[in-house]
Amino acid sequence: MSVLFETTRVKSMELKNRLVRSATVERMGDDKGLPTPDLLRLYERLAKGGVGLIITGMTYVSPDGKTFPAGAAGIDRDEGIASWRALTDHVHSLGTGAKIAMQIAHGGRQTTRAAIGQQPIAPSAVKDQSNFVTPRQMTEDDIERTIEAFARAARRVKESGFDAVQIHGGHGYLVNGFLNPYTNRRTDRWGGSLENRMRFVSEIYTRSRKLVGDAFPILIKISAYDHMTRKGKKGIELGEGIMMAQSLADMGIDGIEVSCGIAEDGMSTLRGKLPIDLLIDDLGMFKNNALMRFVMRRFGNRIMKTPPFTEDYNRSAARLIKQKVSVPVFAVGGIIRPSTMEDIVTSGDADYVSLCRSLIYSPIFPRKIQEGSREPSGCVHCNHCLFYLALGPLRCYNGKRIKKV
Ligand SMILES: Cc1cc2nc3c(=O)[nH]c(=O)nc-3n(C[C@H](O)[C@H](O)[C@H](O)COP(=O)(O)O)c2cc1C
Repeated sequence: MSVLFETTRVKSMELKNRLVRSATVERMGDDKGLPTPDLLRLYERLAKGGVGLIITGMTYVSPDGKTFPAGAAGIDRDEGIASWRALTDHVHSLGTGAKIAMQIAHGGRQTTRAAIGQQPIAPSAVKDQSNFVTPRQMTEDDIERTIEAFARAARRVKESGFDAVQIHGGHGYLVNGFLNPYTNRRTDRWGGSLENRMRFVSEIYTRSRKLVGDAFPILIKISAYDHMTRKGKKGIELGEGIMMAQSLADMGIDGIEVSCGIAEDGMSTLRGKLPIDLLIDDLGMFKNNALMRFVMRRFGNRIMKTPPFTEDYNRSAARLIKQKVSVPVFAVGGIIRPSTMEDIVTSGDADYVSLCRSLIYSPIFPRKIQEGSREPSGCVHCNHCLFYLALGPLRCYNGKRIKKV
């Protein structure tokens, strides 16, 4: 039997295999952020497709952390628990053995006034060059209420019947915003040293743990490194990412998913070309600026320094972290071949293999692997799935464009 299909356990959660659906925004929430029938059907397809653990798309812990004006999923109020419970009951009732975790998040500076009806908040007022938002620096009160919002969200996740919670600590969203010296320029106890920058996530963890108990798995996804060290400012470099992971494991986090990047550093989380024509023609980017449209069409990928798609691009980061921590490590990023997945586990680089775009392309990829397929995912890494989220729910476009807006 392939090592990928061994049964393992993370605290109270037993996993039938080592294949994980990495958190993926679906935009399938209703006007209260609660799951729609489309979301239920998507998770049913994923469960039946054979994945061991489904991690939901990022789910906001408070309304000011939403990342879309409509369709974002939320876990910000107790009244929503019954709806989320219906969804987890459905996934569990299918009899596939798939488990489901919720990723809890706050958009920080990577959201917009259009999405939340107010100026986005962040540890410091550092302008985001990817969405042109300058956030408002959080006050002590903002910090306190947001930590509480995360902890209460974690409690609701457990009460909703999820098998685990994952804190989104990566990709430039609020928790990562505190960890990252590029976006956290504070000089109080929330900024400066790594210990101070980790205080926000550490408080979230400690208060969540009190509410969910010792047996419930609390996972985290981190950006172990990014490419924000520039103009005399430092982002997160891998050495610090490893120390961060060690501290998270020491504080009691039950599993670490090793990703990278923030929105502003040019697609390093996903790799591959920025679809500039799509952004300009279909999403109306720079619609009032002909010069920018011209410059971006000609030089956009060079200006944005978008790294090309390569396979398993976070593997060495996962390996270095795995060598330092005793909690399970999840590798994510460009993992498309069954042979690579097996090699990641057998070589001890990670315990679990997380897949995002491969499962958008085909939710039955895990089942095919279990049946003996050695074929790589057919995903072409066009990244249209990500950018067209601006227009509607998640789906695979397989390199195609849709009608212009
Ligand atoms: C459409 C789309 C939505 C995503 N949404 C999330 C998300 O909600 N939370 C998260 O941590 N990562 C999110 N990601 C990043 C993926 O989970 C994953 O880290 C990244 O795509 C690399 O994995 P892959 O090469 O298997 O796609 C998203 C990626 C895509 C393409």
